[in-house]
Amino acid sequence: AKRLGILTSGGDCPGLNAVIRGAVLKGDSVYGQEFVGFIDGWKGLVEGNAIPLDRRSVRGLSSQGGTIIGTSRVGPYREPDGGADNIRQRMKRLGIDGIIAIGGEGTANAAKRLFEDGVNIVGVPKTIDNDLAATDYTFGFSTAVEIATEAIDRLRTTGNSHKRCMVLEVMGRHAGWIALFSGIAGGAHAILIPEQPETIEQISEWVRSVVHRGRAPMVVVAEGFTFPDMDQAHSTKGLDGFNRPRLGGIGEVLAPLIEEHTGIETRATVLGHIQRGGAPSAFDRVLATRMGMAVSDLVADEGWGKMVALHGTDIVRVDFADALANLKTVPPQSYADYRQLFG
Ligand code: F6P
Repeated sequence: AKRLGILTSGGDCPGLNAVIRGAVLKGDSVYGQEFVGFIDGWKGLVEGNAIPLDRRSVRGLSSQGGTIIGTSRVGPYREPDGGADNIRQRMKRLGIDGIIAIGGEGTANAAKRLFEDGVNIVGVPKTIDNDLAATDYTFGFSTAVEIATEAIDRLRTTGNSHKRCMVLEVMGRHAGWIALFSGIAGGAHAILIPEQPETIEQISEWVRSVVHRGRAPMVVVAEGFTFPDMDQAHSTKGLDGFNRPRLGGIGEVLAPLIEEHTGIETRATVLGHIQRGGAPSAFDRVLATRMGMAVSDLVADEGWGKMVALHGTDIVRVDFADALANLKTVPPQSYADYRQLFG
């Protein structure tokens, strides 16, 4: 039977613990696999910092947010003691036969390189943004959408009471899935996503037409959204190369501009990490548990270099390389369809 090391890497995500539980329970009962958890992602692997994970340590975990083994944005090749040779030696010393890496695009990239360098490794896709091409849905996304939808419902009642335009900024740097899904679910009057620039004039027109009907406008904006004339005046490049609004988030940039262009009192709310915290939705618990169980099967079959993914209603196996082909963004046509409902 195999001894496996699990790590969680990158931004946390509701459902990580359910994956760990699913893998440990199935691995233990069906294959006699043993597990350890590396603390704080790749850092724990590189430093050899691991804790045993058995049936007892995963008890009740499917409902718990975050990750019990911690996470970080450290990469396996970036640390002084990193790299495939060091990691193989570390695994040998700890008696580890393979690594289960649960993470997003950065993690899959690193895992692919480690696999090519001869490390036994498999993956589980993770991101609340739902922008990984390999899988139809990632766990954590449904939870984030639920939380954002509840925020829209709440903002709507206060917006209606004051006849204000309410702007909700949700997560999503490169893809607008959370904004799109929560915006549709909450009946937003405009949904702004990174994939599709909209001018401030167009946004103001939607807002005005809602006010004209005697309603309080609700605008949902993904954090990565930009409008064409925003660049010099309002944005600055962060240390990570990501283009960020100069003051606050895009929601805070947008609200005063809407107010200025429409004369309608406007307030912004930045939902932030509330979208990533707390208990996973039932859908995410089920998806995460299935992925955890499937990764235990994958390891039993020595399917190194692959990750599990959801295709339709089935959990399948894909190569890291395929998983990374491109980012899954909102298709222009489906955005165009929903856009007809704005205003
Ligand atoms: O990728 C997940 C995500 O939550 C993005 O939506 C967001 O842009 C980013 O992580 C936030 O990162 P951090 O946790 O470093 O603030």
